[in-house]
Formats: sequence, C-alpha cells, structure tokens
Amino acid sequence: MKILLTGAAGFIGSTYVRIAGSEHEIVVLDKLTYAGRPENLPEGTKLIEGAIEDPKIVREAMEGVDAVVNFAAESHVDRSIDDQDAFARTHVIGTGTLLDAVRELGVERYVQVSTDEVYGSIESGSFTETSPLDPSSPYSATKAAGDLLVSAHFHTYGINASIVRGSNNYGPRQYPEKLIPLITLNALHGDPLPVYGDGRQVRNWLYVEDFCRGIHAVLQSGKAGEAYNVGGPDECENIEVVKRVIELTGADPSLIEYVQDRPGHDRRYSLSSDKLREEIGWQAEVHFAEGLEKTVAWYLDNEDWWGPIRSGEYREYYEKQYGKALG
Ligand code: NAD
Ligand code: TYD
Repeated sequence: MKILLTGAAGFIGSTYVRIAGSEHEIVVLDKLTYAGRPENLPEGTKLIEGAIEDPKIVREAMEGVDAVVNFAAESHVDRSIDDQDAFARTHVIGTGTLLDAVRELGVERYVQVSTDEVYGSIESGSFTETSPLDPSSPYSATKAAGDLLVSAHFHTYGINASIVRGSNNYGPRQYPEKLIPLITLNALHGDPLPVYGDGRQVRNWLYVEDFCRGIHAVLQSGKAGEAYNVGGPDECENIEVVKRVIELTGADPSLIEYVQDRPGHDRRYSLSSDKLREEIGWQAEVHFAEGLEKTVAWYLDNEDWWGPIRSGEYREYYEKQYGKALG
C-alpha cells in the first residue's frame, strides 16, 4: 500500500513509520509545529510540510494513496486549557478536510487516531467502544468532535473509515511537555519534579510500539464505521510513575514538588481492549516496568535529540506553565 500519514513527524506517527515503513510506501504530511520534528523520521522518509486543514495541499499529498492514517494533532491537555484555538482547527476543521478529500479522491481506507480521553474519567472498571463520549478538556472535546465527524462521513457517504482510541502512550521521542519525559529530563538535571494535585490520578500506560501495532492491525483488518480501543496492560498512579523514574535515574526524591492541580483534571482513564483482542488478535507486549526502563534509557542516551528542544520554544512554555509554581 501507499499510505499517507499525517502528523507523523511527531512522537507516535514517527514510531508508526518505523513499524509500517518496511512493508509499505509512506508519505508524511506534517505542519511541523513545535512537536513536529523532521529528525524524528527515519532518513529518506518522504515529508511534505503542510496543514491538514489546507484543502489544496491535502489533495496533492493524497494523490494516488491507498490509505490515510491521521495522527495530526495538538496533543497536550495543558496547552489546550491555555488556548483551544489550534486544537479546534486541527482536530475539527483538519479532520473534516481530510475526510472530504478521502471521499472525493476515492481513497480506499481511512484510520483516525484518537484517544481514551474522549470517554472522560472513570472511577472503576474500563470504557468499551460503546461507552458514551464525555470529554472534559478542550483537547479531548475537539478530539471527540473529530471522531464524530469520521462517524458522520461513514454514515453519510459510506467511506471506509475506522477510529482507534489509545490510552496514554510513552516511549522514545515523546516531547518533554508530557509527564514521563518531563520528569525524566528534570530528574537528570536535578530540577524540581512537578506533581499536579495529590498525584493520585491514574493513567493506563501503553508503550508506543504496542499502540502502533494496534493501529496497523486496525488499518488492515478493522471494520468500516467501527471504533477500537487500544489500552495499555498496566495502570499506575502519577506519584508512583514519578517515584519509579527517580529510582531509574538515581535522582533525589526531595525534588518532588506538589503543585496546583490541572483545572478539570480527569482522575482515572481505563480502556478495555477486548474488542481488538477478540476480533483482530492484538495484544500489548510491553509491560510498564520494562517499557519505562527502556524509555528512561533512551532519554539518557539521546541528549542530541532533547538538548535542542529544551533550549528552544520549550523553555518559554516551561516558564509559563511551571515558573510561578516552582519558584
Ligand atoms: P505529537 O504532539 O507528538 O505530534 C503531533 C504531530 O502533528 C506533530 O508532528 C505536529 O507537527 C503535527 N500537526 C499538528 N497540527 C497539525 C496540522 N494542523 N496539520 C498537520 N500536522 C499537524 O502527538 P502524538 O503524541 O504523536 O499524538 C499523535 C496522535 O495520537 C494524536 O492524534 C493524539 O491525539 C493521539 N494520541 C496520543 C496519545 C499520547 O499519549 N500521546 C494517546 C492516544 C492518542
Ligand atoms: P500528560 O502526560 O500531560 O498526559 P494526559 O494529560 O494526556 O494524561 O499527563 C499525565 C498525567 O500526569 C496527568 O494526570 C497529569 C499529570 N502531570 C503532572 O502531575 N505533572 C506534570 O508536570 C505533567 C505534565 C502531568
């Protein structure tokens, strides 16, 4: 297949290129925001710079492709609380623009990469694909709107589209605004480790390669009009994640600083992946203890990747987000 991957200069899409690129011809369309980094892509990957909400560039990039997997997103909840504008543009207008082009050009298959956050928070048990969408943040609300547009285009125009909803990913090349890389790099530098609220929030951690194998399985074998959850094998409280990173890096535990909670913070996410396992045969392979060790080791070995990030736009973001709270 010739596959167009949108947003694949980011964390998850660039991992997907490594998994699917040996068997398929890949074209990447990416706006190259702060999170989109050409150096994430394996050498020789065809990259077109452009936004998914630009109908002209989308049609050019989609010419002759058999399938589209849409990874393009503004992916950080805290930034969406600060300003939701780019989130709505990319997740709603952008997704709609891609879907129109898929229909007009007769592209055979479309997969929308989405998140467990569209279901909202759950105290006990796990969300299934029939759970109602109940997003809490501007990030998850606009992702849910994108999912609904995909369903609408399936129902109205009969396009061959599926949705994949992943739980919290971690692994190499994740931008250090997210919990695990942020804590890892701060621990390495002896900087404070910010924990929101009481730190007892729970996330369902999924190693990025497991998610990408799930996405690929859905691209190949998922049914049109259906959503598939891809949940991690383990859940963990944030404070426990931070303590494990401290152990792996040898940092001083007194670096932990409890800071003001995120507004509207979802307490717990949990996904049931029974449908994907039973219908398609996917299973997570990497447990959290093993994946976290590999991830921390990757950051230790790859200062040439994170060095330029920490000294660029990220500094400004970090000061704005944490400056006051961390003194
Ligand atoms: P990321 O922030 O690392 O990468 C996003 C990429 O999208 C970047 O390369 C960016 O330049 C590009 N992009 C942003 N706006 C664009 C636009 N308008 N047009 C074209 N490209 C644009 O994000 P990620 O963590 O790799 O997430 C990828 C997808 O997976 C997203 O759809 C996200 O919602 C979803 N997801 C992420 C997680 C997670 O834990 N990170 C979990 C489940 C689902
Ligand atoms: P994050 O990595 O932003 O992912 P998401 O919000 O999509 O789950 O955050 C993971 C969890 O860690 C979430 O409960 C918020 C919390 N968190 C902190 O406690 N401190 C931080 O500095 C960050 C970035 C997140």
